[in-house]
Amino acid sequence: MHTDEYILKVEDIHKAFGANEVLRGVSFEVKKGETLVFIGSSGTGKSTLLRCINQLTPPDRGRVWLHGEEVTNSGKRINYFRQRIGMVFQNFFLFDHLTALKNVEVALIRVKGMSKEAAREKALAELRQVGMEDWAGHYPAELSGGQAQRVSIARALAMDPDVILFDEPTSALDPELTREVLEVMRTLAQQGMTMLVVTHEMGFACNVANRILFMENGVIAEQGAPTILLTDPQYSRVKNFIGQFLEYNGD
Ligand SMILES: Nc1ncnc2c1ncn2[C@@H]1O[C@H](COP(=O)(O)OP(=O)(O)OP(=O)(O)O)[C@@H](O)[C@H]1O
Ligand SMILES: [Mg+2]
Repeated sequence: MHTDEYILKVEDIHKAFGANEVLRGVSFEVKKGETLVFIGSSGTGKSTLLRCINQLTPPDRGRVWLHGEEVTNSGKRINYFRQRIGMVFQNFFLFDHLTALKNVEVALIRVKGMSKEAAREKALAELRQVGMEDWAGHYPAELSGGQAQRVSIARALAMDPDVILFDEPTSALDPELTREVLEVMRTLAQQGMTMLVVTHEMGFACNVANRILFMENGVIAEQGAPTILLTDPQYSRVKNFIGQFLEYNGD
């Protein structure tokens, strides 16, 4: 078995909500250090796909593997896999009553069983990584959206995950704050973090992604390296899709 070649393997995922067949057989593999960007129109199942990977939404069919171990049908062990697969959402999901530092610390103490001192040291290091160390003592209400999102990235990083899933991490932010969050993500990619990113930020997709996966009608309709998708006429649908956004954002 070549179980170590891919960090994550997603195999033939199907998911319907009633008569609405959202995912109709999605398969892909992710190598260590790769950044995959998922694009596609609203309602094509991008969020559902990310949620199927860590079983927040159990798929109807198909399997997910992390380092050759099955994540689907893993029973109580799913908690272990959820530590290994970090998640960052559009709306941050920080605890309002905890400071930035405590937001990052809390899982280190409660889930990883670290001492208070060790957790604090690690949490500060993760906040430093996202440029938020000076804000450690501030509450979420005192942070900009971009700062709050960077804290939630630090929280994900603190678990030393194998892969981080980002679901539209910047779509609640205005352009300037979007830039600072994308910059943090680009640095993580350069440092070798394995990332799956759903985003409408085509500049990020084209510059940072190893592969762009275009979802349509419940499947990955086209995929490839950005340069290939943008130049090879064979990929006209994804090129048109990306083109709309580039014109839209054009300056
Ligand atoms: N819990 C749910 N119950 C019923 N239907 C759902 C549920 N979650 C998602 N859906 C439906 O599944 C479809 C895909 O939703 P999903 O959120 O995955 O799309 P998306 O590609 O992330 O869209 P967007 O770009 O708007 O975020 C939509 O039609 C949505 O209404
Ligand atoms: Mg979504």
